[in-house]
Amino acid sequence: MAHIGDSVLILDFGSQYTQLIARRVRELGVYAEILPCTASLAEIEAFRPGAIILSGSPSSVYAPDAPKCAPEIFRMGKPILGLCYGLQLIAYELGGEVDKSARREYGRAEIMVDDPNSRLFKDFPPHAKVWMSHGDALSKIPSGFHVTAHSPNSPLAGIANADESIIGIQFHPEVAHTEGGMQILSNFLFAIAKLRADWSPEDFIEATVRDITATAGAETVICALSGGVDSAVAAVLVHRAIGKQLKCIHIDNGLMRRGESAEVVHTFRDHFGIDLDFRDASDLFLSRLEGVSDPEEKRKIIGKAFIDVLSEEAEKFRGARFLVQGTIYPDVIESRSFKGPSVTIKSHHNVGGLPEKMHLKLIEPLRELFKDEVRNVGRALGIPEHFIDRHPFPGPGLAIRVLGEITRKKLELLRSADAIFIEELRAQELYPSTWQAFAVVLPVQTVGVMGDERTYENVVALRAVTSVDGMTADWSRLPHAFLAHVSNRIANEVRGLSRVVYDISSKPPATIEWE
Ligand code: XMP
Repeated sequence: MAHIGDSVLILDFGSQYTQLIARRVRELGVYAEILPCTASLAEIEAFRPGAIILSGSPSSVYAPDAPKCAPEIFRMGKPILGLCYGLQLIAYELGGEVDKSARREYGRAEIMVDDPNSRLFKDFPPHAKVWMSHGDALSKIPSGFHVTAHSPNSPLAGIANADESIIGIQFHPEVAHTEGGMQILSNFLFAIAKLRADWSPEDFIEATVRDITATAGAETVICALSGGVDSAVAAVLVHRAIGKQLKCIHIDNGLMRRGESAEVVHTFRDHFGIDLDFRDASDLFLSRLEGVSDPEEKRKIIGKAFIDVLSEEAEKFRGARFLVQGTIYPDVIESRSFKGPSVTIKSHHNVGGLPEKMHLKLIEPLRELFKDEVRNVGRALGIPEHFIDRHPFPGPGLAIRVLGEITRKKLELLRSADAIFIEELRAQELYPSTWQAFAVVLPVQTVGVMGDERTYENVVALRAVTSVDGMTADWSRLPHAFLAHVSNRIANEVRGLSRVVYDISSKPPATIEWE
């Protein structure tokens, strides 16, 4: 999609913070995109950036395989800000020197501003605690540059050329632990690069609707609405652009939470007037899953069944030329990251192969958005809040939450316990502060007593985590009284479950899901 107004290009040299830089810039109202540092000059110029930010990197600039970028960027006449490795690269490319034996600095460090006239440090405290993470340090600045800041271990922690069009800082302003970090980024964007803050959900919707209308023309577009936030926002956006030309399908795979399919159908058919077909394919999915215990095998079966059912449904719209997908920016960055796609620990579910098979072109209106931006666009489109703030739900659904063999009985136990847990989290207003919460049915039976009888029944585990992006997570410290209440309700209301446990593992070493 063509971006709308001013924009920042972030060149990624492999830092763990690169995405964070893009998010911060967008939070300041300026559109930002990430390209790998290996992007050609032509690609960089085609993006027409108003300013460029060079990310950090775990590498050393002198390493034989050190990541580099097209050196011509320094002659494009666009303001450049180098962060950490970005600073060292500026020095390396423009005639400065980097010392590999410098004192390392990891974590908090104190920075002192040396140049009172620096626009980058405008309204920044003279001393501030900042986040450092570097081995090498600058030992000689390029000619024409001056020092703008230092720290006890980095005498050259900030440099700039005479007109501050090329700037480097050794610390990470994008990290929340850096005091005044947003001030620095804001100074770079507005005081130095003179960009306009014109990135808002409304602008995005307007530009995207225009784009989709032009792309789709008079053709039919199909969309599988899973019930997740991403596909929902994508569908409503496309619907706003082309109305009845959009044909949505919601497939119940028999692995949804209680009431989920009904809610999807109600919200999108009744509330938005979207043309939505509902297909109950639970028998097909559950019969193919019979006797299967291995989670990866479950994922594969579900992925394949999904494509089979969707192809069948899409046959009804033979003339369709496009398929909507709710791909979001982290998925895109992951697949074209400088480090290469990161190791897949669990194979994730997608519609791979379907577009080719059916000769469909993809419409991915959310490709450039982070999750929180997707939510804001959803709100601006009028999608109800209780739908927008939904926790992520895995593609294979409850299949990976019934450990071992899946039976309808276990699915029902799981749905009942899960519904109580979520209902209580909502009632106590604990849901929004939780990243994900769910129940898991364990493949063991334990002894219990009911009246005078000994019973052998399944165990259910409750899992609730806090997280920013799902990459790392901590278990939620839910109040004991709350857990006691949920456990009581489950024991009293769900026949077949007498023991409830709460998962207190963080990720890593555990994962969020159990399978
Ligand atoms: P883990 O369990 O790997 O989960 O810590 C991280 C996030 O990914 C979700 N997840 C999945 N999503 N298909 C999906 O679409 C899957 O197979 C799958 N496995 C895990 C998980 O719910 C969490 O949000």
